[in-house]
Amino acid sequence: MPIHIQPQITLFKDVSLAKIQWLNKLNKYRTLIDHKLHKIKVDSNPATHQISNLTKKRFELMTTALKSQKNEIQLLLEPFKLENIFQDISVAKVLAERVPSEQHVLSYFNNIFRDWAWSTNENYVSLEILKKVWPSSKTEELIVLGSGAGRLAYDLALNKMATDFKLVDINPLLLSVSQKMWSGESFELTEINEFPLTQDNKKKKWALKTPDSDFKSTESKIESETDSEINVTHIWGDAINLPFKAESLTSILTPWFIDIIPEDFFQFAKRLNSRMRDGATWINFGPLGFGSPERGSSYTKEEIEQILDLAGFKIEASEEQFMTYLHSPLSSQKREEKVLAWRAKKIKKMVAPKDFENYPSWVTNTSEAIPLSPEFQNIASQSQLELQILLSIDGRRSITDIVKLMTEHLKLSDSDATTILLTYFSNYFEK
Ligand SMILES: C[S@@+](CC[C@H](N)C(=O)[O-])C[C@H]1O[C@@H](n2cnc3c(N)ncnc32)[C@H](O)[C@@H]1O
Repeated sequence: MPIHIQPQITLFKDVSLAKIQWLNKLNKYRTLIDHKLHKIKVDSNPATHQISNLTKKRFELMTTALKSQKNEIQLLLEPFKLENIFQDISVAKVLAERVPSEQHVLSYFNNIFRDWAWSTNENYVSLEILKKVWPSSKTEELIVLGSGAGRLAYDLALNKMATDFKLVDINPLLLSVSQKMWSGESFELTEINEFPLTQDNKKKKWALKTPDSDFKSTESKIESETDSEINVTHIWGDAINLPFKAESLTSILTPWFIDIIPEDFFQFAKRLNSRMRDGATWINFGPLGFGSPERGSSYTKEEIEQILDLAGFKIEASEEQFMTYLHSPLSSQKREEKVLAWRAKKIKKMVAPKDFENYPSWVTNTSEAIPLSPEFQNIASQSQLELQILLSIDGRRSITDIVKLMTEHLKLSDSDATTILLTYFSNYFEK
């Protein structure tokens, strides 16, 4: 399959700001690894800790694995030149264009091994589900939002299901892996398993490679008249605000994406609609395990169908099934998820909602009034109570003494004051 790799594009509103934030994330990762290495050193000191030979061996394995993984990750991030950024930027500006804190260097790290190392069948199952909803007409340009380490799109290319790929992801490590794999470079990366099957499975340095040889024997159900050339462009950017012109896109794929973004699905669907041409196609694939189950926007499948309708789409095909998710051959744990795939067509124009902001405007616009919400009022009275408790601790008073003070000054009953104090101190120790 002739693949043409186009130069990478960066599509952040402020590129140096994105770089600074990822440099901070990289530094956090390095500190975390150094801390883990230090902890292993302390725990394996025979003068202070009694450890068995096998535990000693595990500590040695971990030390080697952590050091190699740190080097490998630094090498993968080198092309992004994160180290060269020194700039003084205001906190308000950083908050306005923040890379969400849930996205860090090791986010979705195991996806890399699932995509390019493990010989499990998850990638095959994903492709088969997508085939069931894929349009029968020819797809040329395909924008993949949250393309990760790039395997799903690669399999779509091998199966001639699209020819011109734009892969968008916010995480430079995943994008770098994707670039390398699409370019045919093979390299090694260390997996460290938290819950290994055996001691030898604690870590493994995998050789990452493309699956073309396996796939040559797999019959593609989608036929094409010619062996078309494939173009791929990697885009480093934030896909939530969709850095594309209005009514410009013809086919979009969101694999395992809509449930992990902080924006409400309804708003995102309307914005996506506004960037799509009339009759354009949106293919989705992934679970509905929305990040915060308590939020009103943790939509069910039925609500999603209604929202798609309200956001100007008509569902043309859909498919649901359980599949195994990120089951490492090294691991003693395994997760199953129900995934939903659909193909929807844009049938009505929507006005784009305003850009998604991680924070309300009164945080980033420092002269705007802070709204007095019931939540803030609650926090204020709770904090006042906690402050009273803390200020009454003087090294001599007992809980019974503080209960007395609280009944006198705060007009609380004896039993209410005792409950408040005991709850406060037990929470302190359970944190
Ligand atoms: C659950 S992973 C799925 C990755 C890939 N699609 C797959 O199926 O393996 C979510 C992906 O979305 C990316 N992502 C998260 N927020 C993003 C954003 N605002 N813009 C672009 N990509 C984002 C993550 O870096 C990650 O690659």
